[in-house]
Amino acid sequence: MKILMVCLGNICRSPLAEGIMEFKIEQAHLNWQVDSAGTNGYHVGEAPHRLSQKVAQMHGIDISRQRARNIIPADFDHFDIVYAMAEDVIEEIRWRTGKNFNDAKVKLLMNELYPGRNIDVPDPWYGPESGYREVFDMINRACDKIVEHYAFHKK
Ligand code: 4NP
Repeated sequence: MKILMVCLGNICRSPLAEGIMEFKIEQAHLNWQVDSAGTNGYHVGEAPHRLSQKVAQMHGIDISRQRARNIIPADFDHFDIVYAMAEDVIEEIRWRTGKNFNDAKVKLLMNELYPGRNIDVPDPWYGPESGYREVFDMINRACDKIVEHYAFHKK
């Protein structure tokens, strides 16, 4: 399975999602791929936000080598599932990928944990470290659910 994690800047939420998912893929010895991307392009080429890096490091996950990129239409050819961190991100993905946008491949990440509730992973960009810890915890639980759902139950 090939998974793309997407947020607005690709420096706070989706780098955590990529790092957490990568960690779980390795732990479970899964033959999966994960990458991340953003939609707004303001931080392309940058490393993840220092607080995302710090909170990941506190859990033994090194995301320092990631670099922000924008989602491109061809991502819909390569990836099986595109997880958006929030509903506004889905609209941005739609706009950026045009005719390649594939509704069937796009899911709101937290709907894996709470189906149908359309809960956003909040944008921690303007806030303190506690916001990054909350985001880590939400994404971590959603990624556990993804592994359980797709790897072990093969639904
Ligand atoms: P992210 O957070 O989408 O979780 O990476 C943001 C980072 C930067 C901006 C917006 C959201 N920005 O507008 O610069």
